[in-house]
Amino acid sequence: MTPPDPVEAERLQAAQAAAALVEDGMRLGLGTGRGAAAAVRAIADRMTGEGLRLEAVPTSQATGDLASSLGIPLIDLPADGLLDLTIDGADEIEPESLALIKGLGGALLREKLVAAASRRLVIVAEASKLVGRLGERAPVPVEVVPFGWQRTATRLRAFGADVAPRVAAGSGRLFASDNGNPILDCRFADLSDPARLDRELCLVPGVIATGLFIGMATQALVGTRQGLRRIERVADR
Ligand code: A5P
Repeated sequence: MTPPDPVEAERLQAAQAAAALVEDGMRLGLGTGRGAAAAVRAIADRMTGEGLRLEAVPTSQATGDLASSLGIPLIDLPADGLLDLTIDGADEIEPESLALIKGLGGALLREKLVAAASRRLVIVAEASKLVGRLGERAPVPVEVVPFGWQRTATRLRAFGADVAPRVAAGSGRLFASDNGNPILDCRFADLSDPARLDRELCLVPGVIATGLFIGMATQALVGTRQGLRRIERVADR
């Protein structure tokens, strides 16, 4: 038998801990990516085993397909009120503030909409996602409108960013999100104030959403070789 991949084991540890937070009757947000998918499977297992009644808003087509195939009822993002709990992954986590980079999987816009409509955003991740400062490893994905995206890229370069239009694996064509938009992967020379940078980027004509999630995550569940690490956000730090 193949020994379990240690990163996969960390992800699973986090996903199972997140699924344990789910309670009967909850309305959930379901994130996108490997960590989120592991959580969706663990939630579906609890539904089957314990008869939990849940409904969920998926943050991507892929997550919606997975959740449906496992019998989790899907709903649209409600016009009012808050989802009880959203479980999602992240590409980088700054543990002091729980500021995040998300969107390497391409689902940042729906993820942000769902996170903003949630009472709690719990992040599941493996230990390698923890960083001293955002941008250490991952670029910041920025979703932009297709019209004039090259012009938007030029404006982003004026922030001191190295801007790489994301290309779809295999085809060599410009990647399109579930919303039909290109994503520009931006490496900023200065990411010391991500909240300010996010505000400024959102003012650029053509920018729809950035992968900077600041002040949104309430808790991170991080699998490590030594066991699960639970990190709570201290409000407004
Ligand atoms: C999807 O667009 C992303 O925001 C994911 O949440 C993030 O990329 C983490 O994905 P993995 O759990 O696959 O690393």
